[in-house]
Amino acid sequence: MYRTHTCGQLRIADVGTEVKLAGWVQKVRNLGAMTFIDLRDRYGITQLVLDENTPAEVREAAAEVGREYVLQAIGTVRERSSKNAKIATGDIEIAVTTLTILNRSEVPPFTIEEQSDGGDELRMRYRYLDLRRPPLQRNLMLRHHMAQSLRRFLDNEGFLEIETPFLIRSTPEGARDFVVPSRMNAGEFYALPQSPQTFKQLLMVSGYDRYFQIVRCFRDEDLRADRQPEFTQIDCEMSFVEQEDVLEVFERLAKYMFSETLGISFDYQFPRMPWQEAMARYGSDKPDIRFGMEINDLSAEAKGKGFVVFDSAEYVGGIVAKGCADYTRKQIDELTEFVKRPQVGAKGLVWIRLAADGSVKSSIDKFFTAEELQAWAGTCGAGAGDLMLILAGDRMKTLAALNVLRLEMGDRLGLRDPHKFAPLWVVDFPLLEWDEETKRFYAMHHPFTSPKPEDIPLFDTDPGAIRANAYDFVVNGVEVGGGSIRIFDSALQSRLFETLGFTHEEAEKQFGFLMNAFKYGAPPHGGIAFGFDRMCSVFGGADSIRDYIAFPKNNAGRDTMIDAPAPLADAQLDELALRVEKPAETK
Ligand code: AMO
Repeated sequence: MYRTHTCGQLRIADVGTEVKLAGWVQKVRNLGAMTFIDLRDRYGITQLVLDENTPAEVREAAAEVGREYVLQAIGTVRERSSKNAKIATGDIEIAVTTLTILNRSEVPPFTIEEQSDGGDELRMRYRYLDLRRPPLQRNLMLRHHMAQSLRRFLDNEGFLEIETPFLIRSTPEGARDFVVPSRMNAGEFYALPQSPQTFKQLLMVSGYDRYFQIVRCFRDEDLRADRQPEFTQIDCEMSFVEQEDVLEVFERLAKYMFSETLGISFDYQFPRMPWQEAMARYGSDKPDIRFGMEINDLSAEAKGKGFVVFDSAEYVGGIVAKGCADYTRKQIDELTEFVKRPQVGAKGLVWIRLAADGSVKSSIDKFFTAEELQAWAGTCGAGAGDLMLILAGDRMKTLAALNVLRLEMGDRLGLRDPHKFAPLWVVDFPLLEWDEETKRFYAMHHPFTSPKPEDIPLFDTDPGAIRANAYDFVVNGVEVGGGSIRIFDSALQSRLFETLGFTHEEAEKQFGFLMNAFKYGAPPHGGIAFGFDRMCSVFGGADSIRDYIAFPKNNAGRDTMIDAPAPLADAQLDELALRVEKPAETK
């Protein structure tokens, strides 16, 4: 037996016990007569002590020990003279009698502690060392516990866990596919699934009326803090359900997760916000409703007064930063620069200060009277001491920019407490999205999403106005999950494909297998997929999903630890009947 206890286990009640511990050296302090070694494993840290009573050969062995050496120590638990209240084992230490170096370690490239001195890049390259650090270990333990809770809940509800293939053909989910060449079918390619969408629908046709899978999905898209090229979904599908049934089950799942993982119980129904309303009030289909600072439409009041920026704008809207009337010129300039950044996309920022003495000062004093601006304040619910921030332009773009500005102000004012949770459902998404560039409609969710029955006549008159039976689960401004009720009628499905600009042949070629399956008695069905990495990071109160994935990719989609992606050897390319245009060296 390498060990009798872990490094996080021993307490004052164990004093006098002979124990055997194994772990990594966190720190060595050599004080001449005494040597202290902090031994670490994923359960905690225990202090080992060598002093004048320790056998000479043991002290000799200890002299060599450095950070991250792997040790086995045998000794007796004794009470510490100076206790450490910060760690669970802080009342005791081990008086070492035998010390075995199980393995030596080179000096690690960064400190392996709660806070590391290593930069992102370096820690990604040595991910296996970074993963030794307690914060990452806590994250992966959280992820593990959440996965167990999810399985427990879904199993209790009668969901069957069924695996679906990774080597498939392209499914339309909106991102690019990762492709895999086939050796046995030269010149042909598999695609890795962006999600198991079509397979879970086929499982419904097959009668497995409650399915789930904790499954890896692959999407070749630009990466951000909440996006990885391979990520995990909790993918679910149900038969004989309407939207309300799906929301009911998965709201309970979400509440179960909050309660099991964080001990938080919600005794109310999560708000349901129509997409239109979310866009108008928050400028986002994933509103952070932990705080107010809602967007106000000022178009009616602001236009037609001779200020060309407003007059030429489709939309004028503003938010109120409470108590920020004393923002300095410099702070306002900073915000102006912020909204002008390409990611935000506003042309400029209009501000109105409502000073504590009741006076009004603004960047548009030339065009509007104090009374007019006071009236705007009334519309927006701003009072003395507040700062109003206003943007103008194309409606959707301006709302999107106001959303970013709102979140920024929320951060600056400390209104986005990561340990406070405000979940909601966003419902009634548009079925279709018009793309100006290609002059065609795209499915906003995916092309199997059903329209609201009462909106079906709009296919003839105004397809853009059709609402879908689609819903997103949003927590703290993060889209944690999304799903829809599916079309199960082949005539309606053909109609949608037509609207999406597919010819009958194209639709047949791409989705023939699904449309065929639907000819054999498809039940009404619908489902949802939660982004598991996002769920973990939101529950953990963190922004980046990377910290909840054992081996993530960097922003360039690379794994710098294993150095992937990498070129293939010529022999391998030949075998796959592939020729690479640009050799890797000249990239
Ligand atoms: P959707 O595309 O909305 O729906 O994805 C579901 C959820 O997966 C998460 N997610 C991601 N997480 C990390 N990195 C990514 N690149 C990434 N992309 C998506 C999000 C998102 O809400 N088949 C449908 C679901 C359905 O209709 O049942 C689907 O995949 O949290």
